[in-house]
Amino acid sequence: MTTAHAYGKVILFGEHAVVYGQPAIAVPVTQVRATALVDGAHPDDGVTILAPDLNLVHRLGSPAQTDEARPLELTVRNALDRIGVPRAQDLRIEVSSTIPIARGMGSGAAIATAMVRALGSHFDAGLAASDVSELVYQTEILHHGTPSGIDNSVIAFEKPVYFVRGEGPKVFEVGCPFSLVIADTGVPSPTRDVVADVRRAWELDRERYDRLFEEMGALARAAKDAITTGRLDGLGCLMNRNQALLEEIAVSSPEVERFVAAAREAGAEGAKLSGAGRGGNVIALISPSARDEVSGALRSAGAVRVMATRVE
Ligand code: PMV
Repeated sequence: MTTAHAYGKVILFGEHAVVYGQPAIAVPVTQVRATALVDGAHPDDGVTILAPDLNLVHRLGSPAQTDEARPLELTVRNALDRIGVPRAQDLRIEVSSTIPIARGMGSGAAIATAMVRALGSHFDAGLAASDVSELVYQTEILHHGTPSGIDNSVIAFEKPVYFVRGEGPKVFEVGCPFSLVIADTGVPSPTRDVVADVRRAWELDRERYDRLFEEMGALARAAKDAITTGRLDGLGCLMNRNQALLEEIAVSSPEVERFVAAAREAGAEGAKLSGAGRGGNVIALISPSARDEVSGALRSAGAVRVMATRVE
C-alpha cells in the first residue's frame, strides 16, 4: 500500500487580482491535510476510488458521475496517463481530508495532489513537484473554471509561493517566521461563482477594477519584500489595505467583516479574508502572545473553527 499527503493552504495577498495577471502570495497550512492510499485490488476489479467521508464509491470509467466523483476520476485518469501505465489497472484508491471544503483552503487541490503523489509513488514514477502541480491544475479547471494556478502550485511545492499567472510559481524564503490565526466563518465560499461575478463586474468597469487589481498587486510585491527580509512591521497594514480593496470589489461579507474587526480589536496586526471570499476563512497576523486573545475573539464572533499556523 502507498500513502501520500498534501497540506492545505491560505492566500496571504492578491486573491482575485491574480486572475488578472497581478502577483499573489500563498503559504501552506500544515495543520490540515488530505491523504490518499493506493493499494492493489483483485484481478479484473478495475480502479475503484473511495471517499468514505463523502460516502462515495466510484469505479473509474463508470458513466454515473456525480460532482464529487468527476474531479477524482479526472485526476486518476490524467495521473495514470502521465505516469504511462494503462488505465486498465486493478487498484483501490481511498481519499480523506481534514481540510474544510469550500473555505479557500485548497481542499480540492490537496485531495488531487495527494492522489497524484500516491499514484506516482505506487508506480515509482518519480514525479517532480512541477509535474504534480501541472496535473492538479487540470483538476482545478474542472473545479473552478478559470483557476490562476496558485492553489495547485503552493500545495505541490509545500513552500510559500509568489505567483504570477503564466510565469510559474516562485518559491521564496521567509526571513523571519510569523504566525497566523485562521478562522472559519462556516459559510461556503464558492470560488467559481465569486470569480465569475468579479469578471462580470470587471467587464462593466475595467478601468476601476484594473486600478484596484493593480493596487492589490503592489501590496503583494511589498509583502514579498517584507516577508523575505523579515521586516514584518508593515505586513499587518498591507493585509488591512488588501481587505479594504477586496471589499471594494464586493467579495467580502458581513461575517468576514465581523471577524476582521474582532481580530483587529483583540490585537491582531492585520486581518483579511483569504481565497474567493463572501465567506470562507479570515486570516489574522498575530504576535504569538496575542494568539489566545485573537482566537477567543474570533470564536466569540462565531467562528466554527479556529487554527493557528506558523509561516516559515
Ligand atoms: O480556491 P480559493 O477559494 O482559495 O480561491 C482562489 C483564489 C482566486 O484568486 C479567487 C481564484 C484563483 O484562481 O486564483
